[in-house]
Amino acid sequence: MIAGHTHLLEPALSLDGSMLDELELLSGGLYSPANGYCLPGQMPAGWPTEFTLGVPAAVAQEALRHGAILITDPDGTPLARLTVTDAQNASSVVFLAGSISKLQPAEHPPARNLRVTGPLSRSGPDGPQRLLVAAFAHPPLADQIALTMSKAREADCDLLLFAVVDSNQTGTQFVQELIDSLQLCADQIPNARVRLLVFPTAKGPEGMHAPLLRRHVLDRVDADLVLDFTTRVVERTPPAISQGGGLVVLFTGFSGSGKSTLARELVERLRIVDSRHSTLLDGDSVRRMLSSGLGFSRADREMNVRRIGWVASQIASAGGIAVCAPIAPYDSTRQEVREMAESFGDFLLVHVSTPLAICEQRDRKGLYAKARAGLIKEFTGIDSPYEIPTDPDCCSIDTSAVEVEDGVTRVLEAISRLRPDLARETPVSRRQILAE
Ligand code: ADX
Repeated sequence: MIAGHTHLLEPALSLDGSMLDELELLSGGLYSPANGYCLPGQMPAGWPTEFTLGVPAAVAQEALRHGAILITDPDGTPLARLTVTDAQNASSVVFLAGSISKLQPAEHPPARNLRVTGPLSRSGPDGPQRLLVAAFAHPPLADQIALTMSKAREADCDLLLFAVVDSNQTGTQFVQELIDSLQLCADQIPNARVRLLVFPTAKGPEGMHAPLLRRHVLDRVDADLVLDFTTRVVERTPPAISQGGGLVVLFTGFSGSGKSTLARELVERLRIVDSRHSTLLDGDSVRRMLSSGLGFSRADREMNVRRIGWVASQIASAGGIAVCAPIAPYDSTRQEVREMAESFGDFLLVHVSTPLAICEQRDRKGLYAKARAGLIKEFTGIDSPYEIPTDPDCCSIDTSAVEVEDGVTRVLEAISRLRPDLARETPVSRRQILAE
């Protein structure tokens, strides 16, 4: 939750993809001295590249009126505030300039628990640690690991193996494979850990500066020594496509119950145990694209969830896995989704049963505060109903009582009971996949 909800009325802009990854490195200090956005062609001295933010004219007008704008993730969770000091009209957008301050840590994937977005912490059980960072954009070669280990010994450093990926690789199996291959090495080396650094996809002619930008960021993670192995080019083979019908997993529950977190983690783990494609249809992202224009009346919510169900069953009909995470408060609409899905494949309903009081206490997006203040109407759980699922095959997870990882394990177990060919995850499955 953000202190005092001072931002209740501030305009907000949601970012995704490489803009979101760029924001994280900017607000984390890894592009310092850059600490915000500038106008095109007006890059302050010392910045490693030009960071600009183009927004729709209506959003710019509001931002200028408030002198600030909240920057949110695709779920609408505010991550940073831009204090707007300048603006410039361009043909289709208005560029905003100013400095950013970080509000709260991001949670979007991949591998959030491993992500590096600011200088490394050096505190260890025996006081400050010396650190060596070895950065890899491809699974490491034996001689690179040997060199890394001998440098770490020489310099008396703990070792961090960095998986360095590009924003456009997010969501691919490659990211997990790279992390897994580094983890296999780290398991064999004392005091070695794996971390993930996601670089925004370089735009236009800036692409030419990408190695320099990478260097700039690696220098600012504040290690004693950096070995950069990211430039090796390796050919990759596409993953095999497995056979069989598809699956729709529908997470339902209050806003803030943890649906998106569980759904994202499920998609990441499904990508490890099954080579078919898993697609995430998250409530907030769907509302921006597929259901933009719909509100929160009963009819609009039904239409929204029906659309999600339709897209999900199309994915299932093509043999894919669709993981959906809308609130879906009405039983009758959930049944419609079940029917659509079951005509093409299998269906699993997961009730994320985190109590309303806990969701309201978390209030990462500040929406419950707005609903209580009367600024948002028809808010689920406050002045709009939620019908608790009674389906006998429903899987129920309360994220205030169960860790995310254990919750996802339960969903994977339910999936493998339903579809023994899918998602049979064992503690060694990651290792086996790598060994094949
Ligand atoms: S549903 O009811 O149609 O399934 P959906 O999951 O798409 O809802 O959208 C819910 C998200 O929209 C919430 O996570 C929250 O971020 C946002 N939201 C905005 N207004 C409301 C509202 N009145 N009720 C519930 N969620 C809202």
